Amino acid sequence: MLPQPVLIIGTYNADGTPNAMNAAWGGQWDAREIVISMGAHATTDNLNACGEFTLAFATQETMVASDFVGIVSAKNCPNKIQKTGWTAIKSDNVHAPVFADFPLTMECRIIRKIDESPEGYYIVAEIVNILVDENYLTPDGQPDVDQMHLITYNPISHTYMSLGYPLAQAFSIGKQLK
Ligand SMILES: Cc1cc2nc3c(=O)[nH]c(=O)nc-3n(C[C@H](O)[C@H](O)[C@H](O)COP(=O)(O)O)c2cc1C
Repeated sequence: MLPQPVLIIGTYNADGTPNAMNAAWGGQWDAREIVISMGAHATTDNLNACGEFTLAFATQETMVASDFVGIVSAKNCPNKIQKTGWTAIKSDNVHAPVFADFPLTMECRIIRKIDESPEGYYIVAEIVNILVDENYLTPDGQPDVDQMHLITYNPISHTYMSLGYPLAQAFSIGKQLK
């Protein structure tokens, strides 16, 4: 699939310290549910202990550290989150850290695991709540995605790309051919 999202999964390690990992193999499952293909990681252990997590959308500003959390495991790097420079705050709605450096974060709870094995599983999770930094709201209170500098993952060139700018209104622009 092209493009893929750059999602940062936030969980707590067994010792209570925050952890984060990068996930590009994910997307929408249903109106209020998301799906992620999970391998066997420290994050997977954390999710087995508690099925709650946060999901932040990576930005140009958080890109370097977002890649870092995707190539280094908390299993080998106890100060992983310290190295990102991110600020971890306890979520109000789920047992997971919210990283304040991201404009848009979803608080999620696993409702189903598919094809569970020692290598991992597919997570289906409900979106419990969505947090948006007040600086990234439109005047009518909607998330202002255009201002967030979100990045996507290109699985062909293995590069991060910027999301771009709006072109036209969906469910509308095509009406001119009706
Ligand atoms: C661009 C990118 C995308 C990734 N996508 C996924 C993914 O969708 N699922 C997955 O299990 N791991 C994915 N990874 C790998 C994990 O993020 C990586 O193994 C991480 O170090 C796990 O951290 P942890 O062991 O501290 O949980 C991705 C890594 C990168 C760099």
